[in-house]
Amino acid sequence: MKIFSGSSNKPLAEKVAQELKLPLSAMEIFIFPDGERRIQIQEKILDEDTVIIQSSNSPVDDNYMELFFIIDALKRSGARSVTVVMPYLGYQRQDHIFRDGEAVSLDVVVKIIDTLGVDKIIFFDPHTIKLPDFFTIPVANLSALPLFAKIIKERELEIMDRVLVSPDMGGLRRIKILSDLLEGMPWIAANKDRDLNNGKVKINNFEGDLTVNELKGKCALIIDDIISSGKTIVECANLLKSYGIKKTFVFTTHALFAKEALKLLQDSEAEKIYVTDSVLIPEDKRFAKLEILTISEIVANELRR
Ligand code: R5P
Repeated sequence: MKIFSGSSNKPLAEKVAQELKLPLSAMEIFIFPDGERRIQIQEKILDEDTVIIQSSNSPVDDNYMELFFIIDALKRSGARSVTVVMPYLGYQRQDHIFRDGEAVSLDVVVKIIDTLGVDKIIFFDPHTIKLPDFFTIPVANLSALPLFAKIIKERELEIMDRVLVSPDMGGLRRIKILSDLLEGMPWIAANKDRDLNNGKVKINNFEGDLTVNELKGKCALIIDDIISSGKTIVECANLLKSYGIKKTFVFTTHALFAKEALKLLQDSEAEKIYVTDSVLIPEDKRFAKLEILTISEIVANELRR
């Protein structure tokens, strides 16, 4: 197996390669002054199984185009198979038409990946449960939830009376899975509205195993797939605090972290924000409350199959 890293998340690619006891394979990604990319595979890969590790977070379009060119270069160089590891798949929130006249952007990027001749795609905790159905190629739909369950069990979070919280109804399936992994821990889920014009988030109420009157003195574990602006987490943590929640911890797979998110999250009611390295979090986007967990072992195990 030959592993190639795109430029979006080389540290993750290095960790996966290390898990598999393989070196990263040589490839040149040259960027012309106008921003166009030129890819050259610099190893013999004829009849080899190849893997590309590339997330499509910001700069989303650059990362996608780079991926497309790497796939093309591998195919033209005679690879036997091409597996794409895309822990975070950009445009996945645009999975249907929300307002008249919109594009279904997810469908467009999936169609391109499908037609390039990729043999398998691996991703983590998709926003939409329907993501695998968009593809015609085999997919591995992996999750960081077992990793979160392990941390919750290992760390001091377990000593308090806890409740799992989904900040929206879209995350219901996720917290039910996590609840099962945590011996039936109680859960609640928020009814959230977002104004699509200005991004403002409003949580109307919670539903689930506990009433809001039963939250007092408990420790909340908010579980989400993505943090982008941070508004969802902040709104949810504030509301929980007003119901008497004593401590809040946040577990999110994909830390997209728009600029405004950093201060919002650091100043929020949350004690700690756990995220994964599904996307690269540069030094200038790290803050004291942040802890990054690696998904490299889960990826490596999937590639060994
Ligand atoms: C939305 O449905 C997702 O599950 C996340 O809650 C959302 O993407 C978070 O976005 P933000 O951090 O901008 O509120």
